[in-house]
Amino acid sequence: MFETLKPQPADKILALMQMYRDDPRADKIDLGVGVYKNAEGVTPVMRAIKAAEHKLWEEQTSKAYVGLVGDPAYSDAMIKLILGDAVERGNVAAAATPGGTGAVRQAFELIKMANPSAKVYVSDPTWPNHVSILKYIGIETVTYRYFDPETRGVNFDGMMEDLKGASKGDVILLHGCCHNPTGANLNMAQWQEVVDLLNANGLIPMIDIAYQGFGDGLEEDAQGVRLVASSCPEVLIAASCSKNFGIYRERTGLLMAVSNDASAQALNQGTLAFLNRQNYSFPPDHGARLVTMILNDDALRADWAKELEDTRLGMLGLRQQLADELQNLSGSNRFGFIAQHRGMFSLLGTTPDLVEKMRVDNGIYMVGDSRLNIAGLNQKTVPILAKAIIDAGV
Ligand SMILES: Cc1ncc(COP(=O)(O)O)c(C=O)c1O
Repeated sequence: MFETLKPQPADKILALMQMYRDDPRADKIDLGVGVYKNAEGVTPVMRAIKAAEHKLWEEQTSKAYVGLVGDPAYSDAMIKLILGDAVERGNVAAAATPGGTGAVRQAFELIKMANPSAKVYVSDPTWPNHVSILKYIGIETVTYRYFDPETRGVNFDGMMEDLKGASKGDVILLHGCCHNPTGANLNMAQWQEVVDLLNANGLIPMIDIAYQGFGDGLEEDAQGVRLVASSCPEVLIAASCSKNFGIYRERTGLLMAVSNDASAQALNQGTLAFLNRQNYSFPPDHGARLVTMILNDDALRADWAKELEDTRLGMLGLRQQLADELQNLSGSNRFGFIAQHRGMFSLLGTTPDLVEKMRVDNGIYMVGDSRLNIAGLNQKTVPILAKAIIDAGV
């Protein structure tokens, strides 16, 4: 049997991480991998997570199974964090999943189960895992224009034109905030136009939100999701706690199915439990429990929100510094988009050849599509990157 297996394509980002490790240069800069790093290059355990873990260690008396969809208290806390008061709790079915990737995977499984002929529309570009999971489970994928290589903002006219080609029942995958890989996001007027189109044409939104709190703030980053959830009859939402709680390896995510018909909730809830059962039975509990403890404790929550806000402001500062350096070196404002983008990533919008040149000449590692992780920088490395960008002729 094993002899029939074919080698799978290597994950480009993981391959890049290995090249970085093997590079002997002391001044190399890693802008590839998608984790937050502080000015010392460390991905820290957040203070509130440490405190919650300590408390959990003291108080937890059992590691018995929890439930197929995880602890309902986790779902409640996360639904409140993401959706606020936008929808009635009774209209939301939810299941804990192994990370945001688990939520995305289960959402696609649900789509395939409910409507095998639905196509899923994804932005061009999108997080590569969206495309590869869709392909793997056999859902037809269509791309819609999203990134404007001239302005490095959203090509909104192109996006709307392409979405108009979708048929009733097709699913439109949107990033809730901090678009990965581009950093370019919809404004609220644009979200409203998208909602109007979805509702006019019977399209189903699926929102992937993996960076709440990394863009304009915890509440601000949820505005688009809340608008969609309160305006569309059916919505799927895949959420990740990996970034905003810094618990990447704990695999903490949530899938929500929102319906404006409360009578659908029980069926949706049962379906999410069934899908969890088929794939891994019980979702991981440790990360979800920490998140629940933090969100339900005023002091822990305030400290978490403060640390997250400091993280966000740190990244915004680096964006501004990089945009300013590039303005000085280029004598133009053509890199101003870096300060406008939000989240951990910006797509520089240059060619793989120039990305490669910066790696070879300067030890700067970014993904081949020219995505750079702003959190891989610090105040000292920003001028080095700016000079490399200009020297390479970007
Ligand atoms: C857009 C997007 N969705 C989902 C995820 C899932 O993250 P995780 O499975 O680590 O929670 C990521 C992580 O990089 C992401 O960028």
